[in-house]
Amino acid sequence: MINFGFRRSKSLAVDLGNTTTMVGDEENVLLCQPSCIVFNASNNSVKAVGSKAYEMFEKTHDDLKPVKPLRGGVIADYYSASRLIHELVHRCCSVSWFGGFDTIVTGVPYHTTEVERRALRDAMDQFTARRHYLIYEPVAAALGLGLDIQSPEGKLVLDIGGGITEIVVISLSGVAAFQSLKVAGDAFDTAIQDHFRRHYNMAIGMKTAEQVKIQVGSVVPDPDDEPAPMLVRGKDLITGIPMIRKIDHREVCEILEKSITSLEHSIVQTLETCPPELAADIYETGLYVTGGGAMLRGLKKRLESRIKLKVHIDKDAMYAVTRGISKVLKEHRKYGSVLFE
Ligand SMILES: Nc1ncnc2c1ncn2[C@@H]1O[C@H](COP(=O)(O)OP(=O)(O)OP(=O)(O)O)[C@@H](O)[C@H]1O
Ligand SMILES: [Mg+2]
Repeated sequence: MINFGFRRSKSLAVDLGNTTTMVGDEENVLLCQPSCIVFNASNNSVKAVGSKAYEMFEKTHDDLKPVKPLRGGVIADYYSASRLIHELVHRCCSVSWFGGFDTIVTGVPYHTTEVERRALRDAMDQFTARRHYLIYEPVAAALGLGLDIQSPEGKLVLDIGGGITEIVVISLSGVAAFQSLKVAGDAFDTAIQDHFRRHYNMAIGMKTAEQVKIQVGSVVPDPDDEPAPMLVRGKDLITGIPMIRKIDHREVCEILEKSITSLEHSIVQTLETCPPELAADIYETGLYVTGGGAMLRGLKKRLESRIKLKVHIDKDAMYAVTRGISKVLKEHRKYGSVLFE
């Protein structure tokens, strides 16, 4: 994960994600770390955050308490989320800024309740800022993708994150239609774990499942860049003895089939609920895919063959939301209308 260094301005862009937390300023992404924290169980002090905490996950003992504070794209453990964001902002901002930030803008999924948004606002209130705003993540992602969100032309954006996938149609700086589902990176990893358990009586960790998805994952059986098969290490569920098994991209493609099909259904449903004039625009502009899940091998090929739209995959998929928020900070007069309190 990347730690880009100290920021120079007094405004912050924050994307507190299910899997990854990003902090940026008006110009750059300053920090990108896993949304993980490990506490000492005895006194609840912080043992590790970010990459270090991620390394410890699934390897801890009773004296350590590992927490992933976000679930489904929202805060599930308020205390841990507050500590995590505190530690990460400290890492990339000079202590002198803590007296008072100018503006902090934080991304929030579109499909959230007022209670979930309040938890996020409260967690960010620990940083004294003159102004604190929220922005819907798919809108920020569209800006980060370089789309003209203010024009009346409809734009279809698919953000596949770790805990949540959101599909939105954006026009005139607002959301005209949307679908939100909990089928995202974590669900893909769970499907891989379940497959090993059911077919090979083999237990594998979440981190190994994620590695399988990234290394040999594919959503088409014949991707352009066919990966070499991978050796997966785990534990025999019957004997308890460590074991190893080879898996290739065709097998992962079958495992991910159900999840990808439900994403496709949701894309179609979004188009069904969207006004016909916007749907006509999307026929021309196509589908923009971002979020870490956009990097799934063969996704462009698969979606183009199923939903018959041109598909654009973001090359810097994990950074789109933060890039978009940075743009709003820099050009707040132009994009201020997309912010809310
Ligand atoms: N090359 C890759 N192929 C497939 N998936 C990937 C790849 N790289 C990262 N991912 C997955 O992307 C997900 C993280 O994406 P992202 O950082 O956009 O999520 P997030 O913003 O933290 O989550 P959310 O938006 O749900 O809050 C993880 O599930 C990760 O395993
Ligand atoms: Mg996200």
